Amino acid sequence: MRILVTGGAGFIASNFIRHMLSAYPGYHIVNIDSLTYAGNLENLREIESSDRYSFVKGDICNSDLLRGIAFDAIIHFAAESHVDRSILDAQPFLQTNIMGTYTLLEEARQRGCVFLHVSTDEVYGSTEEGFFHEDSPLRPNSPYAASKASSDLLVRAFGETHGVKAMITRCSNNYGPFQFPEKLIPLVILNGLSDKPVPVYGDGMNVRDWIHVVDHCRAVDAVFHRGRAGEVYNIGARNERTNIDLVKMILKEVAEVRGVDEGRLLDLITFVHDRKGHDRRYAIDPARLEGDTGWNPRVDFREGIKNTIEWYRANEAWWQRILSGEYREYYRTQYGERLRA
Ligand code: NAD
Ligand code: DAU
Repeated sequence: MRILVTGGAGFIASNFIRHMLSAYPGYHIVNIDSLTYAGNLENLREIESSDRYSFVKGDICNSDLLRGIAFDAIIHFAAESHVDRSILDAQPFLQTNIMGTYTLLEEARQRGCVFLHVSTDEVYGSTEEGFFHEDSPLRPNSPYAASKASSDLLVRAFGETHGVKAMITRCSNNYGPFQFPEKLIPLVILNGLSDKPVPVYGDGMNVRDWIHVVDHCRAVDAVFHRGRAGEVYNIGARNERTNIDLVKMILKEVAEVRGVDEGRLLDLITFVHDRKGHDRRYAIDPARLEGDTGWNPRVDFREGIKNTIEWYRANEAWWQRILSGEYREYYRTQYGERLRA
């Protein structure tokens, strides 16, 4: 089986490719990624020489390119993913998240192949109480969320109209190794390690529902193999935290591993202007996924956070190359050399 994974140089899909290659010795993964600022091939260094992995540098909006790639199924992660960037400039979000998904759907339709669409709980908007269920109304509030909700509707329409065997997953907030340090958890870890201010938006009482990236990858695997075509699956670990509690917990852990006074790191917390349209609370009910596939989250949150802090401490070269911009050279130096060889 050859699976086309889109956006494989990003945070979640790079973890997913590693998971799939180790779990399924018979699979070949083709990773298509255009290497935006969020794409980093260093995330895949461990597996890049595997003969069961290949990389295509390219845009998912390029139908001619897609047509020339051999594959039997699509697992679609590629997206513009950062809410704050979508508030500054929505255009790339509409292009990649909507037009890119549409282009892939056309390809799935022509080939009659399975299409697994990786979406987000943000399509449901914000809820003060209760949990998002798969049939909760779509009420996206940010341009990012609206672009993902649009792509979800296209996936549904291609299933209903053209019979594409499609499934949608909607996951809550991920954390873990290889997350780009614009997102809250790696930002807090890196700033806590380097004594820089830790910005907390608004009053810090917004709630997010956190899941370790490896549990998300195992859930996508479960849906791919055991999910029902035409179905939507929420993915979450029933792990809600206010931002301020989370930030304090991480800074205390960082203080402990650094052997510094925790009060000194807590003083780094700086309340800043709120995000525009900031969703107050996300909370996911993953019961359908658990019932249909037998999936359960495995990573304990405190352990997951400790391991993630350890990972960033052990991989300083990785994030320093992001902060300096050098990571963007990796494709040219590694793949440029190989292409010439
Ligand atoms: P990311 O920003 O880390 O990675 C996105 C990847 O997509 C990058 O490698 C980028 O180069 C690539 N890409 C962007 N535009 C492209 C295009 N036009 N053509 C080809 N490649 C392109 O994202 P992430 O946080 O790993 O999220 C992956 C997916 O999971 C997204 O669809 C996101 O909506 C969804 N998701 C993320 C979270 C989360 O907490 N991060 C939670 C739920 C769902
Ligand atoms: O819920 C799933 C979504 O989670 C995914 O679909 C998105 O791709 C992913 O980016 C994430 O979105 P969030 O906006 O929830 O994640 P972020 O890490 O940007 O912010 C988490 C919370 O922390 C949010 O309430 C905003 C707040 N925040 C964020 C940053 C970057 C701060 O208070 N300070 C910050 O500096």
